[in-house]
Amino acid sequence: MAEAANDNLNLKNTGGSLPVPNVQSLAASKEFTEIPGRYVRPEIIDSPVLDSVAKHGDIPIIDLSRLDHLQHSNDEILKLSLACEDWGFFQVINHGVPDEVMEKVKVVIKEFFQLPLEEKKVYEQFPGTVEGYGQVFVVSEEQKLDWGDMYFLSTEPVSGRNLNLWATNPPTFKDALEQYTQEIRRVANILLESIEKSLKLDKFFSMFEGGVQSVRINYYPPCPQACKVLGLSPHSDAVGLTVLLQVNEVQGLQIKKNGAWLPIKPLPGAFIVNIGDIIEIMSNGKYKSIEHRAIVNTDRERLSIATFHGPRVDAQVGPLPAAVEKNEPHYKTVSLQDYVRMLFSFKLEGKNILDHMKLED
Ligand code: OGA
Ligand code: NI
Repeated sequence: MAEAANDNLNLKNTGGSLPVPNVQSLAASKEFTEIPGRYVRPEIIDSPVLDSVAKHGDIPIIDLSRLDHLQHSNDEILKLSLACEDWGFFQVINHGVPDEVMEKVKVVIKEFFQLPLEEKKVYEQFPGTVEGYGQVFVVSEEQKLDWGDMYFLSTEPVSGRNLNLWATNPPTFKDALEQYTQEIRRVANILLESIEKSLKLDKFFSMFEGGVQSVRINYYPPCPQACKVLGLSPHSDAVGLTVLLQVNEVQGLQIKKNGAWLPIKPLPGAFIVNIGDIIEIMSNGKYKSIEHRAIVNTDRERLSIATFHGPRVDAQVGPLPAAVEKNEPHYKTVSLQDYVRMLFSFKLEGKNILDHMKLED
Protein backbone atom coordinates (compact mmCIF):
# COMPACT_ATOMS: atom_id res chain seq x y z
CA MET A 1 0.00 0.00 0.00
CA ALA A 2 2.66 2.47 1.06
CA GLU A 3 4.67 1.61 -2.02
CA ALA A 4 1.76 2.10 -4.39
CA ALA A 5 1.04 5.46 -2.82
CA ASN A 6 4.67 6.39 -3.23
CA ASP A 7 4.67 5.43 -6.90
CA ASN A 8 1.73 7.69 -7.46
CA LEU A 9 3.32 10.71 -5.90
CA ASN A 10 4.61 12.01 -9.19
CA LEU A 11 1.30 13.37 -10.37
CA LYS A 12 -1.08 13.10 -7.46
CA ASN A 13 -1.37 15.62 -4.63
CA THR A 14 0.68 17.99 -6.69
CA GLY A 15 -1.93 20.72 -6.81
CA GLY A 16 -3.76 21.54 -10.00
CA SER A 17 -4.59 24.41 -12.25
CA LEU A 18 -7.47 26.88 -12.16
CA PRO A 19 -10.20 25.93 -14.62
CA VAL A 20 -9.86 27.66 -18.00
CA PRO A 21 -11.99 27.69 -21.17
CA ASN A 22 -11.45 24.96 -23.72
CA VAL A 23 -9.48 26.64 -26.50
CA GLN A 24 -10.36 24.17 -29.24
CA SER A 25 -14.08 24.88 -28.86
CA LEU A 26 -13.46 28.60 -28.38
CA ALA A 27 -11.53 28.69 -31.67
CA ALA A 28 -14.24 26.70 -33.46
CA SER A 29 -17.20 28.71 -32.15
CA LYS A 30 -19.20 30.61 -34.77
CA GLU A 31 -19.51 33.68 -32.55
CA PHE A 32 -15.77 33.96 -32.37
CA THR A 33 -14.81 37.39 -33.72
CA GLU A 34 -12.37 38.97 -31.29
CA ILE A 35 -9.66 37.14 -29.36
CA PRO A 36 -10.45 37.40 -25.64
CA GLY A 37 -8.00 39.69 -23.88
CA ARG A 38 -6.58 36.95 -21.66
CA TYR A 39 -4.97 35.33 -24.71
CA VAL A 40 -3.48 38.49 -26.20
CA ARG A 41 0.25 38.74 -25.52
CA PRO A 42 1.54 42.23 -26.36
CA GLU A 43 5.07 41.19 -25.36
CA ILE A 44 5.50 38.94 -28.40
CA ILE A 45 5.61 41.92 -30.75
CA ASP A 46 8.95 42.87 -29.20
CA SER A 47 10.42 39.38 -29.10
CA PRO A 48 12.76 39.08 -32.09
CA VAL A 49 12.52 35.93 -34.18
CA LEU A 50 15.58 34.76 -36.08
CA ASP A 51 14.38 34.12 -39.59
CA SER A 52 17.51 32.69 -41.08
CA VAL A 53 18.81 29.41 -39.75
CA ALA A 54 21.63 29.77 -42.27
CA LYS A 55 22.95 32.76 -40.33
CA HIS A 56 22.44 31.43 -36.85
CA GLY A 57 23.06 27.75 -37.36
CA ASP A 58 20.65 24.97 -36.61
CA ILE A 59 20.34 22.62 -33.68
CA PRO A 60 22.80 19.69 -33.85
CA ILE A 61 21.80 16.28 -35.20
CA ILE A 62 22.65 13.21 -33.13
CA ASP A 63 22.76 9.77 -34.70
CA LEU A 64 21.39 7.42 -32.03
CA SER A 65 22.70 4.29 -33.76
CA ARG A 66 26.21 5.60 -33.06
CA LEU A 67 25.51 5.94 -29.33
CA ASP A 68 24.05 2.49 -28.87
CA HIS A 69 26.20 0.11 -26.76
CA LEU A 70 27.53 -2.01 -29.55
CA GLN A 71 28.19 0.82 -31.94
CA HIS A 72 29.28 3.26 -29.26
CA SER A 73 31.35 5.99 -30.90
CA ASN A 74 33.47 8.46 -28.95
CA ASP A 75 32.99 11.01 -31.71
CA GLU A 76 29.24 10.87 -31.25
CA ILE A 77 29.59 11.24 -27.46
CA LEU A 78 31.70 14.33 -28.05
CA LYS A 79 29.12 15.65 -30.48
CA LEU A 80 26.41 15.01 -27.89
CA SER A 81 28.34 16.82 -25.19
CA LEU A 82 28.79 19.87 -27.45
CA ALA A 83 25.08 19.72 -28.37
CA CYS A 84 24.14 19.70 -24.68
CA GLU A 85 26.59 22.43 -23.71
CA ASP A 86 26.13 24.81 -26.64
CA TRP A 87 22.47 24.25 -27.51
CA GLY A 88 20.54 22.19 -24.95
CA PHE A 89 18.42 21.08 -27.92
CA PHE A 90 19.16 18.58 -30.67
CA GLN A 91 17.45 16.34 -33.22
CA VAL A 92 17.80 12.57 -32.97
CA ILE A 93 17.92 10.46 -36.13
CA ASN A 94 18.43 6.72 -36.71
CA HIS A 95 16.64 6.08 -33.44
CA GLY A 96 15.18 2.77 -34.52
CA VAL A 97 11.61 3.53 -33.46
CA PRO A 98 9.52 1.69 -36.05
CA ASP A 99 7.59 3.93 -38.45
CA GLU A 100 4.33 2.17 -37.65
CA VAL A 101 4.70 2.90 -33.94
CA MET A 102 5.14 6.60 -34.71
CA GLU A 103 2.33 6.63 -37.24
CA LYS A 104 -0.09 4.85 -34.91
CA VAL A 105 0.45 7.26 -32.05
CA LYS A 106 -0.02 10.21 -34.41
CA VAL A 107 -3.30 8.76 -35.68
CA VAL A 108 -4.80 8.14 -32.23
CA ILE A 109 -3.78 11.58 -31.01
CA LYS A 110 -5.42 13.26 -34.01
CA GLU A 111 -8.53 11.13 -33.55
CA PHE A 112 -8.74 11.90 -29.86
CA PHE A 113 -8.77 15.66 -30.42
CA GLN A 114 -11.41 15.30 -33.14
CA LEU A 115 -13.86 13.82 -30.61
CA PRO A 116 -16.68 16.10 -29.49
CA LEU A 117 -15.82 18.13 -26.40
CA GLU A 118 -18.14 16.09 -24.13
CA GLU A 119 -16.30 12.91 -25.06
CA LYS A 120 -12.88 14.41 -24.38
CA LYS A 121 -14.19 15.74 -21.08
CA VAL A 122 -14.65 12.16 -19.87
CA TYR A 123 -10.86 12.31 -19.34
CA GLU A 124 -10.86 15.75 -17.76
CA GLN A 125 -8.54 16.54 -14.85
CA PHE A 126 -10.02 16.27 -11.38
CA PRO A 127 -9.77 19.53 -9.44
CA GLY A 128 -6.43 19.79 -7.67
CA THR A 129 -4.60 17.39 -10.00
CA VAL A 130 -2.74 17.82 -13.26
CA GLU A 131 -3.31 14.52 -14.99
CA GLY A 132 -5.92 14.27 -17.77
CA TYR A 133 -7.42 16.59 -20.36
CA GLY A 134 -7.33 20.30 -19.59
CA GLN A 135 -4.60 22.75 -18.76
CA VAL A 136 -1.77 23.15 -16.26
CA PHE A 137 0.17 26.05 -14.76
CA VAL A 138 -2.80 28.43 -14.44
CA VAL A 139 -2.46 29.80 -10.91
CA SER A 140 -4.24 33.17 -10.99
CA GLU A 141 -7.31 34.71 -12.62
CA GLU A 142 -5.19 37.58 -13.95
CA GLN A 143 -2.63 35.40 -15.69
CA LYS A 144 -2.43 35.38 -19.51
CA LEU A 145 -3.53 32.11 -21.10
CA ASP A 146 -1.99 29.92 -23.77
CA TRP A 147 -3.79 29.24 -27.04
CA GLY A 148 -3.90 25.48 -26.60
CA ASP A 149 -5.35 22.52 -24.73
CA MET A 150 -3.38 19.60 -23.38
CA TYR A 151 -3.80 16.02 -22.32
CA PHE A 152 -1.31 14.95 -19.69
CA LEU A 153 -0.75 11.33 -18.65
CA SER A 154 1.72 9.57 -16.41
CA THR A 155 3.15 6.52 -18.20
CA GLU A 156 5.91 5.25 -15.86
CA PRO A 157 6.23 3.76 -13.36
CA VAL A 158 3.51 1.52 -14.74
CA SER A 159 2.02 1.07 -11.27
CA GLY A 160 1.45 4.82 -11.08
CA ARG A 161 -0.73 4.98 -14.21
CA ASN A 162 -4.17 6.41 -13.80
CA LEU A 163 -5.81 4.23 -16.42
CA ASN A 164 -9.27 5.71 -16.06
CA LEU A 165 -7.85 8.88 -17.61
CA TRP A 166 -6.47 7.01 -20.65
CA ALA A 167 -8.85 7.42 -23.59
CA THR A 168 -10.83 4.34 -24.61
CA ASN A 169 -11.86 6.13 -27.78
CA PRO A 170 -10.19 5.71 -30.23
CA PRO A 171 -10.03 2.08 -29.06
CA THR A 172 -6.35 1.71 -30.00
CA PHE A 173 -5.30 4.79 -28.01
CA LYS A 174 -3.92 2.87 -25.02
CA ASP A 175 -1.94 0.35 -27.07
CA ALA A 176 -0.54 2.99 -29.36
CA LEU A 177 0.56 5.24 -26.49
CA GLU A 178 2.02 2.31 -24.57
CA GLN A 179 4.08 1.10 -27.52
CA TYR A 180 5.24 4.58 -28.36
CA THR A 181 6.29 5.49 -24.82
CA GLN A 182 8.12 2.18 -24.41
CA GLU A 183 10.13 2.96 -27.52
CA ILE A 184 10.79 6.48 -26.27
CA ARG A 185 12.02 5.03 -22.97
CA ARG A 186 14.62 3.04 -24.91
CA VAL A 187 15.71 6.16 -26.81
CA ALA A 188 15.83 8.22 -23.61
CA ASN A 189 17.90 5.57 -21.82
CA ILE A 190 20.52 5.50 -24.57
CA LEU A 191 20.70 9.29 -24.45
CA LEU A 192 20.85 9.43 -20.65
CA GLU A 193 23.60 6.81 -20.51
CA SER A 194 25.53 8.72 -23.15
CA ILE A 195 25.03 11.96 -21.23
CA GLU A 196 26.49 10.22 -18.17
CA LYS A 197 29.56 9.32 -20.26
CA SER A 198 29.84 12.81 -21.70
CA LEU A 199 29.66 14.37 -18.23
CA LYS A 200 31.86 11.66 -16.71
CA LEU A 201 29.35 11.65 -13.87
CA ASP A 202 28.93 8.48 -11.89
CA LYS A 203 25.41 7.72 -10.66
CA PHE A 204 23.82 10.02 -13.21
CA PHE A 205 22.07 7.36 -15.26
CA SER A 206 21.10 5.25 -12.25
CA MET A 207 18.99 8.16 -10.96
CA PHE A 208 16.77 7.80 -14.03
CA GLU A 209 16.50 4.00 -13.98
CA GLY A 210 12.95 3.16 -12.97
CA GLY A 211 12.24 6.88 -13.08
CA VAL A 212 9.09 8.76 -13.99
CA GLN A 213 7.90 9.21 -17.53
CA SER A 214 4.89 11.28 -18.56
CA VAL A 215 3.40 12.64 -21.76
CA ARG A 216 2.00 16.03 -22.52
CA ILE A 217 -0.04 15.93 -25.69
CA ASN A 218 -0.49 19.45 -27.02
CA TYR A 219 -3.31 20.66 -29.24
CA TYR A 220 -2.95 24.17 -30.65
CA PRO A 221 -6.04 25.27 -32.59
CA PRO A 222 -5.62 27.73 -35.46
CA CYS A 223 -6.03 31.37 -34.51
CA PRO A 224 -7.13 34.08 -36.96
CA GLN A 225 -4.72 36.47 -35.24
CA ALA A 226 -1.97 33.97 -34.60
CA CYS A 227 0.68 36.66 -34.17
CA LYS A 228 -1.08 37.99 -31.05
CA VAL A 229 -1.18 34.74 -29.07
CA LEU A 230 1.18 32.00 -27.86
CA GLY A 231 0.42 28.28 -28.01
CA LEU A 232 2.77 27.65 -25.12
CA SER A 233 4.44 30.34 -22.99
CA PRO A 234 8.23 30.56 -22.88
CA HIS A 235 9.50 27.94 -20.45
CA SER A 236 12.21 25.43 -19.81
CA ASP A 237 11.08 21.87 -19.11
CA ALA A 238 11.24 21.16 -15.38
CA VAL A 239 12.11 17.50 -15.98
CA GLY A 240 15.35 15.70 -16.88
CA LEU A 241 15.07 14.97 -20.58
CA THR A 242 12.24 15.67 -23.07
CA VAL A 243 11.65 13.85 -26.35
CA LEU A 244 9.27 15.77 -28.61
CA LEU A 245 7.45 14.52 -31.67
CA GLN A 246 5.57 16.86 -33.94
CA VAL A 247 2.33 15.04 -34.74
CA ASN A 248 1.38 16.90 -37.91
CA GLU A 249 3.29 18.95 -40.46
CA VAL A 250 2.66 22.32 -38.87
CA GLN A 251 5.72 23.96 -37.32
CA GLY A 252 5.65 26.16 -34.25
CA LEU A 253 8.44 25.32 -31.83
CA GLN A 254 10.96 28.11 -31.21
CA ILE A 255 13.97 28.01 -28.90
CA LYS A 256 15.80 30.88 -27.28
CA LYS A 257 19.19 31.52 -28.82
CA ASN A 258 21.27 34.61 -28.04
CA GLY A 259 18.22 36.44 -26.70
CA ALA A 260 16.03 35.82 -29.78
CA TRP A 261 13.71 33.02 -30.92
CA LEU A 262 14.96 30.44 -33.37
CA PRO A 263 12.26 28.41 -35.20
CA ILE A 264 12.91 24.66 -35.25
CA LYS A 265 12.10 22.58 -38.29
CA PRO A 266 12.09 18.88 -37.45
CA LEU A 267 13.74 16.55 -39.94
CA PRO A 268 11.29 13.93 -41.24
CA GLY A 269 11.01 11.11 -38.69
CA ALA A 270 13.37 12.77 -36.19
CA PHE A 271 12.74 13.59 -32.54
CA ILE A 272 13.55 16.92 -30.96
CA VAL A 273 15.28 16.35 -27.64
CA ASN A 274 16.04 18.89 -24.96
CA ILE A 275 17.81 19.16 -21.64
CA GLY A 276 15.46 19.97 -18.76
CA ASP A 277 16.01 21.76 -15.46
CA ILE A 278 16.77 18.55 -13.55
CA ILE A 279 19.80 17.79 -15.74
CA GLU A 280 20.95 21.38 -15.30
CA ILE A 281 20.68 20.90 -11.52
CA MET A 282 22.27 17.43 -11.44
CA SER A 283 25.20 18.57 -13.57
CA ASN A 284 25.55 21.65 -11.32
CA GLY A 285 24.99 23.94 -14.30
CA LYS A 286 27.34 22.32 -16.83
CA TYR A 287 24.42 21.50 -19.15
CA LYS A 288 21.69 24.14 -19.20
CA SER A 289 17.99 23.85 -19.87
CA ILE A 290 16.89 26.12 -22.70
CA GLU A 291 13.78 28.24 -22.90
CA HIS A 292 11.39 27.46 -25.69
CA ARG A 293 7.84 28.36 -26.72
CA ALA A 294 5.23 27.36 -29.27
CA ILE A 295 3.52 29.69 -31.70
CA VAL A 296 0.30 28.89 -33.52
CA ASN A 297 -0.84 28.93 -37.13
CA THR A 298 -3.52 31.15 -38.69
CA ASP A 299 -5.49 28.41 -40.40
CA ARG A 300 -4.09 25.05 -39.37
CA GLU A 301 -4.17 23.22 -36.07
CA ARG A 302 -0.88 21.98 -34.63
CA LEU A 303 -0.31 18.88 -32.49
CA SER A 304 2.72 17.59 -30.63
CA ILE A 305 3.57 15.01 -27.99
CA ALA A 306 6.28 15.73 -25.43
CA THR A 307 7.54 12.73 -23.44
CA PHE A 308 9.21 13.78 -20.19
CA HIS A 309 11.73 11.75 -18.19
CA GLY A 310 12.58 12.38 -14.58
CA PRO A 311 14.36 10.53 -11.77
CA ARG A 312 12.83 7.88 -9.53
CA VAL A 313 10.03 9.04 -7.23
CA ASP A 314 12.22 8.53 -4.15
CA ALA A 315 15.09 10.57 -5.61
CA GLN A 316 16.55 13.80 -4.35
CA VAL A 317 16.81 16.55 -6.94
CA GLY A 318 20.15 18.30 -6.49
CA PRO A 319 23.67 18.56 -7.89
CA LEU A 320 25.40 15.16 -7.99
CA PRO A 321 28.41 15.06 -5.64
CA ALA A 322 30.74 14.30 -8.56
CA ALA A 323 29.49 17.43 -10.37
CA VAL A 324 30.18 19.75 -7.47
CA GLU A 325 33.62 21.19 -7.88
CA LYS A 326 35.38 22.89 -4.99
CA ASN A 327 32.38 22.08 -2.80
CA GLU A 328 30.22 24.71 -4.40
CA PRO A 329 26.78 23.49 -5.30
CA HIS A 330 24.88 26.10 -7.33
CA TYR A 331 21.46 24.59 -6.63
CA LYS A 332 19.51 23.35 -3.61
CA THR A 333 18.70 19.70 -3.05
CA VAL A 334 15.02 18.83 -2.49
CA SER A 335 12.95 15.65 -2.72
CA LEU A 336 11.32 14.97 -6.08
CA GLN A 337 7.92 15.26 -4.39
CA ASP A 338 8.64 18.76 -3.09
CA TYR A 339 10.11 19.71 -6.44
CA VAL A 340 6.98 18.60 -8.33
CA ARG A 341 4.68 20.38 -5.87
CA MET A 342 6.67 23.58 -6.29
CA LEU A 343 6.58 23.21 -10.06
CA PHE A 344 2.80 23.11 -10.29
CA SER A 345 2.35 26.04 -7.93
CA PHE A 346 3.90 28.44 -10.46
CA LYS A 347 2.83 29.66 -13.84
CA LEU A 348 4.88 28.65 -16.84
CA GLU A 349 7.40 31.45 -17.12
CA GLY A 350 10.93 31.19 -18.41
CA LYS A 351 13.31 29.39 -16.06
CA ASN A 352 11.38 30.31 -12.91
CA ILE A 353 11.73 26.89 -11.24
CA LEU A 354 15.50 27.13 -11.50
CA ASP A 355 15.42 30.60 -9.98
CA HIS A 356 13.90 28.98 -6.90
CA MET A 357 16.44 26.17 -6.89
CA LYS A 358 19.52 28.41 -7.32
CA LEU A 359 21.79 29.10 -4.39
CA GLU A 360 23.35 32.54 -4.05
CA ASP A 361 27.06 32.52 -4.89
C1 OGA B 1 6.19 21.11 -24.05
C2 OGA B 1 6.70 21.84 -25.24
C3 OGA B 1 6.57 22.31 -27.60
C4 OGA B 1 5.74 22.05 -28.80
O1 OGA B 1 5.17 20.40 -24.18
O2 OGA B 1 6.83 21.24 -22.99
O3 OGA B 1 7.64 22.58 -25.11
O4 OGA B 1 6.25 22.24 -29.90
N1 OGA B 1 6.09 21.65 -26.43
O5 OGA B 1 4.58 21.68 -28.66
NI1 NI C 1 8.59 22.33 -23.22
